[in-house]
Amino acid sequence: MIPDATYRKHYGDAQARHYAHAKQAAVATHRGEAALVARALSDVARDESLLDLPCGAARMTAVLAQLGFTKLAAADVSPAMVELARARLADDGIDAPVTLADAERLPFADRSFDNVFCFRLFHHFPSDALRATVLAELARVARKRVVISYLDTRSFTSRKRAFERLFRPRPASKFTQTPREFAALLAQAGLEVVADHARLPLWHSLRLVVAHPRGAARNP
Ligand SMILES: C[S@@+](CC[C@H](N)C(=O)[O-])C[C@H]1O[C@@H](n2cnc3c(N)ncnc32)[C@H](O)[C@@H]1O
Repeated sequence: MIPDATYRKHYGDAQARHYAHAKQAAVATHRGEAALVARALSDVARDESLLDLPCGAARMTAVLAQLGFTKLAAADVSPAMVELARARLADDGIDAPVTLADAERLPFADRSFDNVFCFRLFHHFPSDALRATVLAELARVARKRVVISYLDTRSFTSRKRAFERLFRPRPASKFTQTPREFAALLAQAGLEVVADHARLPLWHSLRLVVAHPRGAARNP
């Protein structure tokens, strides 16, 4: 169902364990990302439901629990990641169901969650068709907000990556947008950007957008 080989880089057992370990071990990056998430979600009531998709090994699900969210759910397409996430959440005493789910076709009813949180997935999508499919799914299952990360084309790290590829050509695995381009993609899915937070403006490429599904204000 996922059309492009570069994106369909599945996390098997060993890769999932390596990713989980590497991400958590990169302490400064993890802290920076956790601070970005805390900033983006500062206005969200802690008793609203929130789906962490993709959860990977539940790194950010644990951060969301630390931030005080009590109605958490998590999902990922990789069975190995789902297993790691379940183990991590059980170890941490966090009560959150973890579902095996593909973001292209989510097994959830319309407006199932107040908030859908999509961290470090979007930049892997190689085509606008795929971006549109997934954004439409996130918008469909979110009642109040979609909180979603992307990589900013204008940042130092994005420009450095592009420059390095001039000398060492290889298939791109990270795709970037400008804030304007990203807002336009969200608008096509019926999502209106209300805030766009940078981890460190124009240096780090990671940004986290808070968007409202059109009509959400009328149907709180
Ligand atoms: C870079 S990791 C990010 C995980 C987590 N959000 C974090 O920051 O630690 C990307 C995750 O996306 C998952 N993934 C890739 N394609 C997916 C899809 N179509 N639906 C759901 N999850 C997907 C992978 O299995 C992997 O766990």
